[in-house]
Amino acid sequence: MAETDYLARNRAFWDSRAHAYLEAGERNWSQEPSWGIWSVPEAKLGLLPIDMSGLDAIELGCGTAYVSAWLARRGARPVGIDISPEQLAAARRLQAAHGLAFPLHLRNAEVTPFPDASFDFAISEYGAAIWCDPHRWIPEAARLLRPGGQLVFLCNSNLMMLAMPEPENEAATARLLRPQRNMHRFEWPDSTGVEFHISHGDWIRLLRRNDLEVEDLIEVYPPDGATNSYPFVDRAWASAWPCEEVWKARKRR
Ligand SMILES: C[S@@+](CC[C@H](N)C(=O)[O-])C[C@H]1O[C@@H](n2cnc3c(N)ncnc32)[C@H](O)[C@@H]1O
Repeated sequence: MAETDYLARNRAFWDSRAHAYLEAGERNWSQEPSWGIWSVPEAKLGLLPIDMSGLDAIELGCGTAYVSAWLARRGARPVGIDISPEQLAAARRLQAAHGLAFPLHLRNAEVTPFPDASFDFAISEYGAAIWCDPHRWIPEAARLLRPGGQLVFLCNSNLMMLAMPEPENEAATARLLRPQRNMHRFEWPDSTGVEFHISHGDWIRLLRRNDLEVEDLIEVYPPDGATNSYPFVDRAWASAWPCEEVWKARKRR
């Protein structure tokens, strides 16, 4: 099978899942940004620069594009990229409902049509961050960023990927279920999608090889009383070990 077989699989997977994410998309377009499966408020996590006036921004794997909507509301000029026509159709409906227009492109986030150094800010919340091959999308994100531009992405934590049960409808325990060494491509028995997760050392080397200096690695813990609709992790686990993480990196000047 072709090395990039995951592109068609992930497009079909997200076309079939788009309806299930519509409600969350509608909510996230309307509410102040909050992040990840525990909905940690932006005020607590600080993923976005407060003033993004005049910044060119790109969201890689934008889905319903609510992150881009919030970039626009902070003054940026966002562009959303997604590989799923159904997800982009939902994003377009939400743009119309909220009277907020910005460009949306049906593309693979690993190979975009933009010239080098077109953007000041690139972000992915569970988009390219887990559905694209890091060895393809990180060089592309680095190419797109201007010197001094920032890359921010949110994904499952390294520990979560080592402890996540198969099937995903069971909750993680304190047991590690798979090796960290050479972790990269993940396929699950109850999903047709293909994900990518690499170790922290591999992330750091990959980012630095692409002229991206790591600024922060934020481990995300649930706020008091937070709930989550995903079965693979409960609050006790996620309060002891981070189940999600945010990487921030800056393009060298
Ligand atoms: C979890 S969803 C969207 C995340 C977004 N923050 C949201 O909540 O709407 C992941 C998205 O990544 C997109 N995606 C998967 N592979 C992609 C690729 N190669 N290029 C661009 N988008 C991709 C999917 O189509 C899907 O819309």
